Amino acid sequence: GKGEYDHFMLKEIHEQPVSLAQTIEGRTDPENGRITLDELDPGVFDGIESVQLIACGTSYHAALYGSLALNRAGVRARALLANEYSVATPPIDEETLVIAVSQSGETADTLNALRLANAEGAKTLALTNVVGSTAARVADETLFIRAGPEIGVAATKTFSSQAVMLALLAHRIGADVCDTRPTDPDSLVFGLDRMPDAIDDLITSSDAESIARQYDGSQSYFFIGRGLGFPVALEGALKFKEITYNHAEGFASGELKHGPLALVTPDTPLFAVFTGVEDEKTLKNAEEAQTRGAPIVAVCPAGHRAVDIADAHLEIPETDPTLAGLFANVQLQLVSYHAARLLDRPIDKPRNLAKSVTVE
Ligand code: F6R
Repeated sequence: GKGEYDHFMLKEIHEQPVSLAQTIEGRTDPENGRITLDELDPGVFDGIESVQLIACGTSYHAALYGSLALNRAGVRARALLANEYSVATPPIDEETLVIAVSQSGETADTLNALRLANAEGAKTLALTNVVGSTAARVADETLFIRAGPEIGVAATKTFSSQAVMLALLAHRIGADVCDTRPTDPDSLVFGLDRMPDAIDDLITSSDAESIARQYDGSQSYFFIGRGLGFPVALEGALKFKEITYNHAEGFASGELKHGPLALVTPDTPLFAVFTGVEDEKTLKNAEEAQTRGAPIVAVCPAGHRAVDIADAHLEIPETDPTLAGLFANVQLQLVSYHAARLLDRPIDKPRNLAKSVTVE
């Protein structure tokens, strides 16, 4: 049941320290700063030249996050919407690893894309939360995110676990298929080790509720981020629209000036995600919106330059750049939750939506 919480979504947001600890458990070696992932046989990625990640909705945002993490690890990778895969199929062969990212493992669009990849001779891997799901049975390899059951229709803890799992996998694939090891997992493993406690602290001290109250009744809500902050901006907006029924959109920070800026008014709060990479540019983009009257909510560490400029602040800890966006995402989950609550929405069962979409 929901226990002390009014909604499963809030319970599942609060469960993240535990669900992430489960995701990471036994897959890293914090003492030696190593990623182990021993459940995957040595040589499992031999001959892989490129990676395609296929998914829908929130899982697609995790896939996008994963594709960027893979690129940082020196691996050719791209994320694709599973529902576009059959009409816009990129070249696939035996040297392609196709990773299906699906919480339920039952999403029809994702399963169709996975079957297509199998038929084309790709090596396939399912990243799922559900043991015995169709995706787990259809793919060559499976990794379970071990986030525990998720009841709220809006995915929260499973997104965090998918992203962390993909960050781990990116290092493993990078180490296996690249001659050189472009990134050192030390700071990631260190950050992951501290992540459960740090998320606990973040949730306890979050100002998300007062910020949701402050901007209640706005016309639209915008979310921006760059690099690994971009999928977080997309996810922030998806969660917000899904449970508040308000218009929300996520953009790559640098895209704001290429069109969306026309929509910016004092009635469109803008949440800016800072991950520690090219933050100066993101700050400049946010200031362009602020000049047009939009209130800026900076999602960044305390003491960050953006805090002085922004109208409101959601704090994240100083951490590895790969993880910063995931902390920001937890703050945005809380904003969406509290905004929906003020509007008295059926948070765990938004209208017209189902937990798993088994039709095309
Ligand atoms: C949004 C949400 C959906 C799912 C999507 C894919 O909060 O939950 O966008 O992410 O329907 O579902 P899975 O991951 O089960 O394939």
